[in-house]
Amino acid sequence: MTGTRAIAELAEHIGAPVRVAGWVTHVRSSGKVRFCALRDGSGELQVVARAQEAPDALLAQMAVLTQETAVVVAGLVRADPRAPGGVELAATELTVVGPSEGYPIAPKEHGVEFLMDHRHLWVRSSRQTAALRLRARIAHALRAFLDDRGFVLTDPPILTPSAAEGTSTLFEVDYFGEPAFLSQSGQLYLEATAMALGRVYSFGPTFRAEKSKTRRHLTEFWMLEPEMAFCDFEENLEWQERLVAYVVADVLTHRRAELAVLGRDTTVLERVEPPFPRISYDEAIERLAAAGFPVAWGDDFGSPEETALAGMFDRPVFVHRFPTRQKAFYMQPDPLRPEVVLAADLLAPEGYGEIVGGSQRIHDEALLAARLAEQGLDPAQYSWYRDLRRYGSVPHSGFGLGLERLVAWIGGLEHVRETIPFPRTLNRVWP
Ligand code: 4AD
Ligand code: MG
Repeated sequence: MTGTRAIAELAEHIGAPVRVAGWVTHVRSSGKVRFCALRDGSGELQVVARAQEAPDALLAQMAVLTQETAVVVAGLVRADPRAPGGVELAATELTVVGPSEGYPIAPKEHGVEFLMDHRHLWVRSSRQTAALRLRARIAHALRAFLDDRGFVLTDPPILTPSAAEGTSTLFEVDYFGEPAFLSQSGQLYLEATAMALGRVYSFGPTFRAEKSKTRRHLTEFWMLEPEMAFCDFEENLEWQERLVAYVVADVLTHRRAELAVLGRDTTVLERVEPPFPRISYDEAIERLAAAGFPVAWGDDFGSPEETALAGMFDRPVFVHRFPTRQKAFYMQPDPLRPEVVLAADLLAPEGYGEIVGGSQRIHDEALLAARLAEQGLDPAQYSWYRDLRRYGSVPHSGFGLGLERLVAWIGGLEHVRETIPFPRTLNRVWP
């Protein structure tokens, strides 16, 4: 509002009269002093009115304020090292902008389902605003890293004619009488734009009809997908570790306060520097077997296996060269060992699981056709994609980073549902 200051900038105005607009989070009285805590999205502020100095009308107003009432408060900024932000506001005048009666989320414990039903209000809580501010900063850092290094943002379509990541998790929509699908990944389109622009990326929502009800799965999640022409498998891993380390360092610089609100132990984050360890799928199987897991070569890793593997390292770890038959049709088989593909997953520490999946892509037309056939996919559905192998095809690689999993790990959040404003899961599309 014109003439008001953000709470975050009040420390620069000590001794000055200001106006602040926000929402009341708590009120309390102590003897002849009334306190109210105010939130405006930029920070939290303690507002005080003392019987000796404040007008009676103001003291009366402060006494009946309720949680989430929207107010504009005028007053004097005073230094107070004990208060959040290092300042408090000695109020002189208060105007109620929007009253609030019977706010359903009281400052007490609520069950998760109740909170999720009230997600539109829950987002106002200090923990949730910290998580959302963290998400926004991470999204900014991801883009900044790529923008500053010559990657061009190219947005793939969301309505697509065919599967990018297997047919089992497609959301089908009726496209004027024809079936179309919500995008599971923009990758195939990014391979096309990479052949036009060299290094490209996309960043947007992707959709998977995942029947998984875990703390890592959403049905709508945001993926960052860089794709690089003339890029081999090893260079692809280097981009990933540089990107992840850059984002973690950025957050440690710019979102310390939010990490503190979330109770994040930052020592794990301080260690996140390249190079990240790399182990082959074969070695992963050996390590898991040695740790007592009943695994055999060819098995997929579930979350207990990923957690155990990640726990063997002090920073994120790449697991590479997975069995070809487990993986997507577009992944380049290792020329020295075609039974494995030049693909890697990046596993986050502390049980957060796979945060990045990437690979070198098949650039040979005949090999691609053979892999499509092996996976029972209709080559006609991919005719445009096969064209990319006919006109100046080059080795190229890329990866997909799941924003919500990255935010959950960096923020130390228990569940990905707290990393996105309105999570979509197996049993929830509301509010
Ligand atoms: O490993 P995925 O399936 O890879 C791809 O889709 C590639 N086409 C990406 C590419 O190479 N351009 O997914 C990539 C990442 C995972 O590592 C994970 O972080 C996240 O997307 N992800 C999910 N996040 C939340 N909920 C889900 N259901 C997710 N599925 C994948
Ligand atoms: Mg994957």
